[in-house]
Amino acid sequence: MSKRWAKHDMEFLGGRRPRRLRQTGWMRDLVRETALAPSDLIWPLFVIEGQNERAPVKSMPGVDRLSIDLAVQAARDAAAEGIPALAIFPNTPGHLRSDGAEEAYNPGNLMCRALSAIKEAVPEIGLIADVALDEYSSNGQDGLVRDGVILNDETVEVMVKSALVQARAGADIIAPSDMMDGRVAAIRRALDAASFESTSIMSYAAKFASAYYGPFRDAVGSGERLVGDKRTYQLDYANSDEALREVAQDLDEGADMVMVKPGMPYLDIVRRVRDSFNVPVFAYQVSGEYTMITLAGDTGVIDRTAAMLESLHAFKRAGAKGVLTYFALETARLLNG
Ligand code: PBG
Repeated sequence: MSKRWAKHDMEFLGGRRPRRLRQTGWMRDLVRETALAPSDLIWPLFVIEGQNERAPVKSMPGVDRLSIDLAVQAARDAAAEGIPALAIFPNTPGHLRSDGAEEAYNPGNLMCRALSAIKEAVPEIGLIADVALDEYSSNGQDGLVRDGVILNDETVEVMVKSALVQARAGADIIAPSDMMDGRVAAIRRALDAASFESTSIMSYAAKFASAYYGPFRDAVGSGERLVGDKRTYQLDYANSDEALREVAQDLDEGADMVMVKPGMPYLDIVRRVRDSFNVPVFAYQVSGEYTMITLAGDTGVIDRTAAMLESLHAFKRAGAKGVLTYFALETARLLNG
């Protein structure tokens, strides 16, 4: 009886059996639509002052901030695994933070020294320099503040100076992460005028005001200082048309590549940007995403490695060219066997 029912059912399906393509490992390999490789991964590194110093980030188990000498070693490890680029973030000592964020354009700042040291020791890896004032300001905001208002154009002037010292120190890609208006055009113009026409710009074009940045702000020391929130410049998470307008404008202004951030909760934005613009799109799997997977893995409720690979693969499926991820080295090692 049940056999006849099954036969009837299959006649109804007209012989279509999608499971044929999933029945063996080699068949799944054969029909897989996207691949994840070490060359898709960008590894964010936090740098601190000192020698042979390693400072764990409490809210990001497994992630340490590194003094420059150890960051150089980490860069060597990353290059050896085929990771194409690092994204560098400084934890500026408290006494150097100020309302004017002047340390951002000190050519001898921690960021610039890290860029130069890595560029000299590991020239084969690309260096992405974050440009934003929150890593240098006393209030944790990405912009200069007057009477509680974020000053757009004054902030852009400081960012231009910051980008120039970074380019001089060896940054290959300038990555403005602040969401001020007009910063890409201003940085492009200044780079060109200073003969850095080969220095690229990867703009954090669609960056949302997000709760998932919490652990990062601990890592760079801006969280405890942050006054207010970033909703007057970072995007409202209810919007996606607005994200496309931001991307269009940054490309008009001269961005070579764009980024969507955070990552996993915003895969719809990655897909829309990829379908709407013919440029490399990157996604940032941010600190809070790293920590969620890590803590869930540590408590045994999910398989860390499997969730890590699945999450990274999802970015490729959504259309990202690559992913900034704190899992980069671990994943590259795994993929390289
Ligand atoms: C600085 C910056 C932030 C991140 C990257 N660059 C924090 C913020 O905008 O508050 C977040 C990265 C992460 O959470 O991993 N403007």
